[in-house]
Amino acid sequence: MTSAISVTSLTKKFGDFTAVDHISFEVEQGEVFGFLGPNGAGKTTTTRMLTGISTPTAGTATIMGHDILHHAFAAKERMGVVTDLSNVYNDLSAWDNLIFTAKLYGLERHHREEKAAELLDMFGLQEVRDDNVREFSGGMKRRLTIAMALINDADVLFLDEPTTALDVQSVRTIRRLIRELNENGTTIFLTTHNMQEANELCSTIAIINQGKIGKIGTPEELKQAMEKMHSVEVAFESGRHSLASDLEGIEGVREVQKRGDKFRLFTLTPPDTLSGVFTFARERGLRILSINTLGPTLEDVFVELTGEEIVHRSNSQTSKKKRRK
Ligand SMILES: Nc1ncnc2c1ncn2[C@@H]1O[C@H](COP(=O)(O)OP(=O)(O)OP(=O)(O)O)[C@@H](O)[C@H]1O
Ligand SMILES: [Mg+2]
Repeated sequence: MTSAISVTSLTKKFGDFTAVDHISFEVEQGEVFGFLGPNGAGKTTTTRMLTGISTPTAGTATIMGHDILHHAFAAKERMGVVTDLSNVYNDLSAWDNLIFTAKLYGLERHHREEKAAELLDMFGLQEVRDDNVREFSGGMKRRLTIAMALINDADVLFLDEPTTALDVQSVRTIRRLIRELNENGTTIFLTTHNMQEANELCSTIAIINQGKIGKIGTPEELKQAMEKMHSVEVAFESGRHSLASDLEGIEGVREVQKRGDKFRLFTLTPPDTLSGVFTFARERGLRILSINTLGPTLEDVFVELTGEEIVHRSNSQTSKKKRRK
């Protein structure tokens, strides 16, 4: 079977800066492929190249077997795109936005209306179909944007951070819709910086860092790495470095790291370790200044999976003035 997405050595440079650095991967049909990475990792830049918005500096890709450079039209016909910037028209109603998009794709009138009605229904927007989008909540807008991306019965749907900046209820709705779409056969390419989201939705997860793929794995691998990265962080009144080896003896602790005036105790059983730290302090007459249990961070998990450090490349790293297509 043809891969839904096949990427070979895809690269994007902005001047001297390499935003995406020779990445290669395959997405099988029917997958939810997660592209997980911190700010500035290159997720949006990759999505923009795969969807024909930006031209690669090197390398190429195919969508459902169609080369994005040489058969761009055929490739685009098979895909739907939801970018990080909403492409809905605020002055139009939900219905008119869908019909307008359908016209852009050249759907015939009868088919346009049938498809728009079907999507409004699926995305729970039937009741507000004639309302001006300007009045929509963020969640409603996001649902409409995804619906619009599906107007041409896309085989592959690109979603760039579809749940970012939404309330909990809307996040849940969007995730349910992604699952439903996938169950109906749509292949999904989803970028996120949220590990839980990647675990919950994806069948394969690529972790991207500084424009390079550090690891491609399953949600199970990611989950296992996450479980290992729970920790208890503690600061004592006298932050003596020599405490580190003693702290290793506390129940559940598998590694101790000194970070500034704090000790970070990595543990598989945070509650046991937490009470162990209190006993430890009491027995030695140490005063605890602060103590916290910490969940895994993307940085920790990335180091655990790849042995490399994650680097946040803020979008300010390259000046706005210099930004180019
Ligand atoms: N048009 C551009 N001109 C110059 N630099 C750019 C341009 N677009 C992106 N970059 C830089 O490329 C890097 C990757 O950006 P990109 O937007 O792909 O990251 P991202 O993984 O989507 O991050 P985020 O999680 O913040 O959305 C960043 O350092 C960014 O500043
Ligand atoms: Mg982005």
